[in-house]
Amino acid sequence: MREELQKIAEEARERIADTSSTTEINQVRIELFGKKGTITQLSRRLKEFPPEERPLFGKLVNDLRQELTGVLEEREEAISRREKKIRLQEERIDVELPGRKPRRGRPHPLLMLIDEITGIFLGMGFDVAEGPEIEWDYYNFEALNIPPEHPAREMHDTLYITEKILLRTHTSPVQVRTMEELRPEPVRIIAPGRVYRRDALDATHSPCFYQIEGLAVDEGITFGDLKGILTVFARKIFGKDRVVRFRPSFFPFTEPSAEVDVSCGCQGAGCRVCKNTGWLEILGAGSVDPRVLAMAGYDPEKYSGFAFGMGVERIAMLRYGIPDIRYFYENDYRFLAQF
Ligand code: FA5
Repeated sequence: MREELQKIAEEARERIADTSSTTEINQVRIELFGKKGTITQLSRRLKEFPPEERPLFGKLVNDLRQELTGVLEEREEAISRREKKIRLQEERIDVELPGRKPRRGRPHPLLMLIDEITGIFLGMGFDVAEGPEIEWDYYNFEALNIPPEHPAREMHDTLYITEKILLRTHTSPVQVRTMEELRPEPVRIIAPGRVYRRDALDATHSPCFYQIEGLAVDEGITFGDLKGILTVFARKIFGKDRVVRFRPSFFPFTEPSAEVDVSCGCQGAGCRVCKNTGWLEILGAGSVDPRVLAMAGYDPEKYSGFAFGMGVERIAMLRYGIPDIRYFYENDYRFLAQF
């Protein structure tokens, strides 16, 4: 019996000596003292012995338990000291290490441009108006003289939410909302914001982009006022030497309508940005159609107005010579840091 116990003790000591982590120590503790552990099993064998031998066997097993418990604790302490030392070394903080400078945040180039354009129009007496991106079909189309089935609806690939609710395809609905709110007062507003179209993303199109709408309604407003305002705007954004050119166009909510080009920085020499035409298209505009005025509650006999709508990304691309609209949405720090 003694021999057997000695063998068990020896094996146990070896197992303990072999451990090198707290996890391993815990494993050995279970192997020895757990429910099915070697020492626990030994105690259960007491009944196998005749009554007179039981006290001796009991004592031997108890001594062994005490001894092994001591050895185990000692080993555990040594391991824990070592683990702590390693951890402290790993977690040591070098307080003299030079700091890492966090990158400074800055506004997105599109928002900076919107701010700049807004500032130009504020300087000319315009206010800023806003409208919802989720819009009624009525404001996006009908009140702008685009009834259901009108072919002009095809020019806007619309994202509908329900039959009557959609994601606005342009900022022009803000024209109507503002006129409804201010009538019969004169209106002079610009309305920057996001618009949505079912356009595939490519170098010059995005399904979500920014527009800035402009609207002026008052007695005696003429197409000449529109031309003057847009010339000032184009020169402030693109440079003093620029000229604007109005090309006849069509929008259901303006009459007459025009598309506006600004002369290219190459001064007609021809370059990649203007595709050798010498001109850059920057916006759509026109005199507010009398029917739109009337639907919004203004008397078209007394009031007239002009409106324009520009694509902010396109203006940014022309101004900075950016060949692909996708750069604006990719959040590449190297691109954004240039502005
Ligand atoms: C309009 O959206 C009219 N509401 C503009 C207007 C307002 C005319 C007031 C008259 C009076 P258009 O669909 O052409 O027009 O869009 C205006 C500008 O938005 C374009 O000149 C272009 O710069 C920009 N744009 C159009 N589609 C996209 C697109 N998918 N991605 C980026 N920019 C776009």
